Amino acid sequence: MRKEAAPSSAPSTAASFGKLFVCFETKPLVATLLALTLVMLLWNLPPYYQNLLSTTRPCSAPSLTSAAAATTSLLATNVSLPYTATPVAEKKYYSAPKAKPRDPNKRVFEAYGNAAALFVRMGAYRGGPTTFAVVGLASKPIHVFGRPWYKCEWISNNGSSYRAKAYKMLPDWGYGRVYTVLVVNCTFPFNPNQDNLGGKLMINAYYGESQRKYEKFTALEEAPGSYNESKYHSPFQYEYLYCGSSLYGNLSADRMREWMAYHAWFFGPNSHFVFHDAGGVTPEVRAALDPWVRAGRATMQDIRDQAEFDGYYYNQFLVVNDCLHRYRHAANWTFFFDVDEYIYLPDGNTLESVLNEFSDYTQFTIEQNPMSSVLCLNNSSEQYSRQWGFEKLLFRESRTGIRRDRKYAIQAKNAYATGVHMSENVIGKTLHKTETKIRYYHYHNTITVHQELCREFLPLSAKNNVTWFNKLPYVYDDNMKKLANTIKEFERKTIGNGNLQ
Ligand SMILES: *[C@@H]1O[C@H](CO)[C@@H](O)[C@H](O)[C@H]1NC(C)=O
Ligand SMILES: *[C@@H]1O[C@H](CO)[C@@H](O)[C@H](O)[C@H]1NC(C)=O
Ligand SMILES: *[C@@H]1O[C@H](CO)[C@@H](O)[C@H](O)[C@H]1NC(C)=O
Ligand SMILES: *[C@@H]1O[C@H](CO)[C@@H](O)[C@H](O)[C@H]1NC(C)=O
Ligand SMILES: *[C@@H]1O[C@H](CO)[C@@H](O)[C@H](O)[C@H]1NC(C)=O
Ligand SMILES: *[C@@H]1O[C@H](CO)[C@@H](O)[C@H](O)[C@H]1NC(C)=O
Ligand SMILES: *[C@@H]1O[C@H](CO)[C@@H](O)[C@H](O)[C@H]1NC(C)=O
Ligand SMILES: *[C@@H]1O[C@H](CO)[C@@H](O)[C@H](O)[C@H]1NC(C)=O
Ligand SMILES: *[C@@H]1O[C@H](CO)[C@@H](O)[C@H](O)[C@H]1NC(C)=O
Repeated sequence: MRKEAAPSSAPSTAASFGKLFVCFETKPLVATLLALTLVMLLWNLPPYYQNLLSTTRPCSAPSLTSAAAATTSLLATNVSLPYTATPVAEKKYYSAPKAKPRDPNKRVFEAYGNAAALFVRMGAYRGGPTTFAVVGLASKPIHVFGRPWYKCEWISNNGSSYRAKAYKMLPDWGYGRVYTVLVVNCTFPFNPNQDNLGGKLMINAYYGESQRKYEKFTALEEAPGSYNESKYHSPFQYEYLYCGSSLYGNLSADRMREWMAYHAWFFGPNSHFVFHDAGGVTPEVRAALDPWVRAGRATMQDIRDQAEFDGYYYNQFLVVNDCLHRYRHAANWTFFFDVDEYIYLPDGNTLESVLNEFSDYTQFTIEQNPMSSVLCLNNSSEQYSRQWGFEKLLFRESRTGIRRDRKYAIQAKNAYATGVHMSENVIGKTLHKTETKIRYYHYHNTITVHQELCREFLPLSAKNNVTWFNKLPYVYDDNMKKLANTIKEFERKTIGNGNLQ
């Protein structure tokens, strides 16, 4: 997860892969739009086109995409043509022409197009017998400068309908871009689907204070008989759930394989991993994770369409909130951290004992051990090219007393919305003093490296000394290396040894 730093200060690898990604993704879209334009010209249906793209209802944007997608297969046989002009120029929105006023001093403001939708729904989930969460994006300026609000309504299949209070949370406040992340909480005074006949949750999203201007959409449908109260009580399906943020850039399949094997071992059989592919899951990465998906240990969500909505860093705040609510009652504890981070228990703690100790807290944060991404020991007896990342990167940056990013875990049933480094919308206490119980090793700048990681070698004496490198002090730390054989053996036993080194 990208954090405090402004997007422009991103590591160059990620940034350039980001550009590449955008380029890959827009071409088919543009081609599709061109195709659509062509169809419309051929069929001579400009009025329909105008209505479809009219600016009065932002909800027409998705229909454009689906209509376009439907026509692609007919016409877009030459989609790989090189486009030199700025491609999006082909996408035109029209608004209805207004009558010219008689008074020459009466000025007219002609609006064209829609810059950002009022609401982009990603998911809506029941969060208990009486409560729901709708997770999505919304135009940021409308929330900064205006006062949009929401109404929730349950329409039962038996014909009754009930209104509920809605309140909104903006969990990425300050980090959004064109879009900001929005969680709308709908809580009814009773279960609106008590008779289990099914029904739907409708949302009215208002543009501003006026009651008259709003969009209405179905957020969620519950099929008859599908409500099961026991889903919202412990015992939950898993003990531990991992919610990953957006995966992007040219990820190393080796590092992903190592991360997955380590954490499948660390969290044990009663855990599950949810990944979000924002373009980073190449065929090689997919091949590394597929055995775990097939074994039911992991789920891969395709969120590549998020690229159409300009939010903070591949919409990572959106993704973690969707995951929080989607799996709110799936596990005792939900962990939020990155794929270059490895949770570790110092001093022979067990995960179960540590979490039992923390069980009065809704949330705890985890301190990092920052590891060098280049330093290895100059030991000619080691075959580094055959070793795993955490097996050979053994130098920890050792400054103390400085503030570093933390990661966290929560009891999701008590959380209403969440962030990247911790959640600020929870009930219950938060614990920060955890560093002697649980930590994480952070191998920053390794996840998109495809060449050999050992790029700087320190003399064997560095094992016992503080070594200064690029003005930072490093000490030797082989805690992770000590686990390497166990993890490899575990991987072999669990998913076979197809490509074990
Ligand atoms: C696609 O374009 C290429 C070169 O522009 C052309 O040679 C080819 O015939 C086209 N194919 C179709 C199916 O139109
Ligand atoms: C519909 O079901 C609710 C309970 O879920 C009940 O209170 C209500 O009276 C029912 N309405 C009709 C018209 O049957
Ligand atoms: C409700 O869910 C529980 C566990 O998830 C299951 O054991 C039970 O059979 C379900 N009940 C119904 C009526 O589907
Ligand atoms: C998870 O919750 C169940 C039910 O409350 C409890 O029995 C179990 O010990 C918990 N497990 C962990 C790892 O916290
Ligand atoms: C990703 O990295 C691999 C290995 O260096 C390279 O072969 C591949 O072309 C890269 N892919 C992209 C999209 O940059
Ligand atoms: C060098 O590597 C060999 C082989 O793994 C190991 O036995 C030896 O202890 C290492 N030397 C040092 C100084 O770490
Ligand atoms: C919505 O907020 C209420 C507190 O106002 C809370 O009890 C409930 O769990 C929340 N629901 C969701 C789905 O987050
Ligand atoms: C590594 O150690 C060998 C001697 O064992 C030495 O010849 C070599 O220069 C060292 N390399 C580096 C990069 O320090
Ligand atoms: C590094 O450690 C060795 C022994 O472990 C010691 O002899 C040497 O003086 C140390 N060097 C420095 C610069 O501290």
